[in-house]
Amino acid sequence: MTQSELTQLFQATFECQDSPSVYFAPGRVNLIGEHIDYNGGSVFPCALDFGTTALVSKRSDRSVYLYSYNFPEQGIISFRLDNMSKTGQESWGIYPKGVFKTFELHHKFIDQGLNILYYGTIPNGAGLSSSASIEVLTGYLLNDLFDLGINRVDLALLTQESENNYVGVNCGIMDQFIIANGKKNHAILLNTDSLDFDYVPFELHDYKLVITNTNVKRGLADSKYNERRQECEEALRILQKSYSIHTLADINLGELINHKAKFNSELIYRRAYHVVSECERTLNAVDALKNHNLKRMGELMNESHRSLRDDYQVSCAELDTLVELSWNYDGVLGSRMTGAGFGGCTISIVHQDALQNYQDYIRRAYTKSFGHEPTFYLANVGDGVYKV
Ligand code: GLA
Repeated sequence: MTQSELTQLFQATFECQDSPSVYFAPGRVNLIGEHIDYNGGSVFPCALDFGTTALVSKRSDRSVYLYSYNFPEQGIISFRLDNMSKTGQESWGIYPKGVFKTFELHHKFIDQGLNILYYGTIPNGAGLSSSASIEVLTGYLLNDLFDLGINRVDLALLTQESENNYVGVNCGIMDQFIIANGKKNHAILLNTDSLDFDYVPFELHDYKLVITNTNVKRGLADSKYNERRQECEEALRILQKSYSIHTLADINLGELINHKAKFNSELIYRRAYHVVSECERTLNAVDALKNHNLKRMGELMNESHRSLRDDYQVSCAELDTLVELSWNYDGVLGSRMTGAGFGGCTISIVHQDALQNYQDYIRRAYTKSFGHEPTFYLANVGDGVYKV
């Protein structure tokens, strides 16, 4: 869809002649540091160059009308600024509506209604953060149109709060943070405890980052996600009896191993082992990338996958198959699942000369095993949310 086609759709949908303002928020992918953002360690995501576009104009009343090009069957979803409680009928509109409500709770008042049209190119349910993209986009456009004075870090925190409290998904800060703060051709090393962050040039030289979608919806993701969070809290409580630590990321692997006997449950120990080892891998991977040692970075990605598969147990047959096929393919430096798991996508570092054959090979082998095709995206690293 071009911008002028979107403007025509906007005017037809809302029956107006307004020239809307246009905003864009990316999707994201996490390079390494998985299931770490609720454990206080560092994560290493980047923003993508595809995402969600919003067209918006102010209304003269106090109603908000939302329409998504991607969900035409849902029609226009509307609410009034004076009553933003959840009705359960919001469908996808829960993401923007939650941001309006969360802003109100923080005395960031919106005093005029809006028409907003959304158009997204992030596949839903693929673990590339289509929902966080809508949330950050909505928060950003409200901040801009109503001069609310919210900086990008607070924008991430407020939209995360909306996802946690209004949508009801207990996610960490990573997705909203990278979508709010991403920078073209850079990944962000984000300390999820202090929210200190550094931009690291994302230079793969002769290699490309390939995102492969299993096209398996992340069915179990929400319930298992909350279960993992609780398991990590339990591991922390056990370790806090011996160490004065504030998060699982505060101990190193040697200290954890020394305390193995304190764990009654092997399972809880393995969860903690993933977290603590992944924290170390993330910092090592960032060093490897900074030193242009892509081979090392690839190895760390492979180790990350094994840890997520065996110790944290958030992978699935489709993800494991994609990753194992990639590990055995010449020209691939590393491959791992990315995001919450139980479906969604893998990322692989693939030599540019091998790209086409690699995709053909993976497509054939994967389809033979599962009866449906994977989808590939060649990832370019884009900017965080902006006004177009
Ligand atoms: C989801 C959550 C993030 C993060 C990842 C796992 O994407 O929204 O906060 O926890 O899973 O790394």
